[in-house]
Amino acid sequence: MRAADIENDLDRVLVTEEQMHDRLAELAKQVDADYAGKDILLVGVLKGAVMVMADFVRHLQIDAPMDWMAVSSYGASTKSSGVVQIRKDLDTPLEGKHVLVVEDIIDSGLTLNWLLEHFETRGAASIEVLAALRKPDAMKVEIDAKYVGFDIPSDFVIGYGLDYAERYRGLRDVAVLAPHVYS
Ligand code: XMP
Ligand code: MG
Repeated sequence: MRAADIENDLDRVLVTEEQMHDRLAELAKQVDADYAGKDILLVGVLKGAVMVMADFVRHLQIDAPMDWMAVSSYGASTKSSGVVQIRKDLDTPLEGKHVLVVEDIIDSGLTLNWLLEHFETRGAASIEVLAALRKPDAMKVEIDAKYVGFDIPSDFVIGYGLDYAERYRGLRDVAVLAPHVYS
């Protein structure tokens, strides 16, 4: 669906599908250059990163294997707890791999901060982050993300893989949810 299909549930659109695709194509060019000849592994964090991973990997010219991890997230709330639980672990050993973590959004940064520290203990050759979205004013910990799609305000957003209580992941655009939907 597009934002126009559910406009009563939305406050405003922040990033259109077209803008996201153009930006991911640019980031893919950088990643192609940065990882040429390296043993790259894309690590997606379920479920939010499904859309960005699917689009990003197809913009790449290098062949990049993907693996997936599931960690506890917000549940039906709109605030991060900072408590991270692994619900599904990776299938791939990280030893010697150049890991690129692919994320939907860096909000407080707490989830990613935990994940990055955890991955460091698994012997990866390098670890970098690609995030489709980042909320600079909401970050509670410093995350040095090398590849960022768009910086956005601190409002709760949905679409492009991001949900509110499992709804709206299939929205093609990124939009701010209208407060009446969750209050
Ligand atoms: P943190 O705060 O730890 O974010 O950086 C962890 C995960 O929570 C999800 N998240 C959101 N989901 N709208 C959503 O639908 C949002 O505005 C939002 N902010 C964070 C997301 O999966 C992120 O990886
Ligand atoms: Mg996520």
